[in-house]
Amino acid sequence: MKAIVLCAGKGTRLRPLAYSTPKHLIPLGNREILSYVLLQIAEAGIRDVGIVISPDNGAQIRGAIGNGENLDLEVRYITQEVPGGLAHAVKVSRDFLGDSEFLMFLGDNLIEGGVAPLLAEFAVRKPDGLVLLKAVEDPRRFGVAELDDQGRVVRLVEKPSEPKSNLALVGAYLFTPEVHDAIDRIGPSWRGELEITDAIQNLLDMGKMVISYELKGWWLDTGTKDDILDANRVLLSSGSAVQGNTVVSGLASCEMGVSGDATLSGCEIVDPVSVAQGCLLENCRIGPYVSLGAGVTIDGATITNSILMEGTHIVGPLVVEDSIIGSRSLIRGEGSNVVLRLFLDNDSSVVLR
Ligand code: G1P
Repeated sequence: MKAIVLCAGKGTRLRPLAYSTPKHLIPLGNREILSYVLLQIAEAGIRDVGIVISPDNGAQIRGAIGNGENLDLEVRYITQEVPGGLAHAVKVSRDFLGDSEFLMFLGDNLIEGGVAPLLAEFAVRKPDGLVLLKAVEDPRRFGVAELDDQGRVVRLVEKPSEPKSNLALVGAYLFTPEVHDAIDRIGPSWRGELEITDAIQNLLDMGKMVISYELKGWWLDTGTKDDILDANRVLLSSGSAVQGNTVVSGLASCEMGVSGDATLSGCEIVDPVSVAQGCLLENCRIGPYVSLGAGVTIDGATITNSILMEGTHIVGPLVVEDSIIGSRSLIRGEGSNVVLRLFLDNDSSVVLR
């Protein structure tokens, strides 16, 4: 069993931050989103991993993840030259995949409990495809599955305007090499992409067995600022005080608590928080649900439900809430009780007078 992790998406809904930081590398609890995905793959016992990158984000993702050695993985990189869709990403991974069965995991999806339970189901029932489903409130944003009364997948539709069920396709799939032939048989969708949903529908049309697995735990699809803050909140709430590459019951733990190397004076910390090394916090209130990257300095402010990336400075009696602030930014203000909700790229500057 091999795995491919798809990271070629542009993250347009996460601009401006996504201009400088691939969305897969945005830190939640001081660990990049992609690292959680890779840890869940390692935990499921898969070693051979191909990360599908784009020409734009490849260098940064390689720089952050390297050859995967520290995660006990053998990582290779596959460049998807054009954003041609998820099935196109499988197509460009074909040499890497060879005749293996494989897990396809979207590099911005986090699931409670990891992927080991899916692999176990796949090994027992031996289908040609397995899709992970989650009941959601608004299925129109996703691929949607229709099941028969015995729970078998009968139809999959990508982003239907009138969904026939509330079961969305989560971004983790298992396939035998049969899927390559199915991909060769499909054409681009209305959005000009080779959709994995169409390839799976093609497997069904050819009489192949596709099974579903319903996820009961949480699913975090980190496509927007609010999704990222939700994910930060969930991971901080469910993590435990562990450092390093520790996996806690299928969930790669985030870095919880305050680093022993941070300097605090006159601060109130409201857990859960993740405060990285080298932070300098003075006369401030931090938390709940706050992740501070390495070397963040805060003087006088109140920060709740936010992610501040490394080297950012906040100075003044400000309230910063529901915010994501890129690395090395400066927020300075003198007026008291100013409440800010920010979404800023790296190296931003905001001065309030
Ligand atoms: C893709 C899939 C969709 C799935 C979603 C999960 O959508 O095409 O079926 O529900 O991922 O994140 P996209 O992110 O390409 O819009």
